[in-house]
Amino acid sequence: MDLQAQLEELKKSTQAQLQAIKAENAKELQDLRVKVLGKKGSLTELLKGLKDLPNELRPVVGKQVNEVRDVLTKAFEEQGKILAAAKIQAQLESESLDVTLPGRKISVGNRHVLSQVTEEIEDIFLGMGFQVVDGYEVEQDYYNFERMNLPKDHPARDMQDTFYISEDILLRTHTSPVQARTLDKHDFSKGPLKMISPGRVFRRDTDDATHSHQFHQIEGLVVGKNISMGDLKGTLEMISKKMFGEDRKIRLRPSYFPFTEPSVEVDVSCFKCGGKGCNVCKKTGWIEILGAGMVHPRVLEMAGVDSEEYSGFAFGLGQERIAMLRYGINDIRGFYQGDSRFTEQFK
Ligand code: PHE
Repeated sequence: MDLQAQLEELKKSTQAQLQAIKAENAKELQDLRVKVLGKKGSLTELLKGLKDLPNELRPVVGKQVNEVRDVLTKAFEEQGKILAAAKIQAQLESESLDVTLPGRKISVGNRHVLSQVTEEIEDIFLGMGFQVVDGYEVEQDYYNFERMNLPKDHPARDMQDTFYISEDILLRTHTSPVQARTLDKHDFSKGPLKMISPGRVFRRDTDDATHSHQFHQIEGLVVGKNISMGDLKGTLEMISKKMFGEDRKIRLRPSYFPFTEPSVEVDVSCFKCGGKGCNVCKKTGWIEILGAGMVHPRVLEMAGVDSEEYSGFAFGLGQERIAMLRYGINDIRGFYQGDSRFTEQFK
């Protein structure tokens, strides 16, 4: 076979092989290209025969070589595109996408409702120049009781039985011990003491829908010169309106706490019925929200504060109670179980 026939043959056979390559074997295309057009490929090999041709034939065959190279280069390119397109088509057909399937839900957490209530109250008091202080959940008998004017044999201790770590160390029954600890530290030459202290408290209680052996309180304490019952009432009225609505009124009922004198129980007019009487206020028109009073002189004296010169008020409220009233929660245990069906309602 002469060189020209061989070239023609190479072109035809390469074209035929190209056509035969299937999409799933696309890499055969590259192999074939190297075999035919590569530096050591068939075409280069045929080119070597050029030098043995008679002079007048050389340019003719040389031109033919170039044509074959051009034709085949193009053919490779074309077939490459066809194979790539076929591959994508095959992929599209094999992978189906159902755009009607429901999306995957991303669940975003939220602050616990008790944290929300606590932070809301903190914000209100911070805005009035109060400091927010922390106390100890494990507390000394001394601060929890004695400094709160509840000496060892005081009968009022019965209402606040608790968990004892030792004879003198216990889980605090209220946030009131923070009153004594903060009074001890405060420098009255720098101005009055205004603080709140939120935290967890503990009592020996049988857990039911409205009782829990652990719950939360926010203590409030203001001590300075000329602090009166009017200041207490004004402060409580303000907080009641912020928590339960601008139209709220408050009512003070006489009560008893060993560490305040006089002591009061504070009611807020019912936010649901406005005072007419309903299920939330148990038909009374009023809802009890906290205990308060004027700081007992003995509590001041025990902190080394002159009770002739200084006076103050204190209050203690329960976040669970506030949240239960506000959101109509009827079982206190919901706060502590971590059930997302409960917690997610307060986003
Ligand atoms: N410590 C009291 C209680 O837990 C609440 C209270 C605080 C009352 C401050 C008066 C003043 O019942």
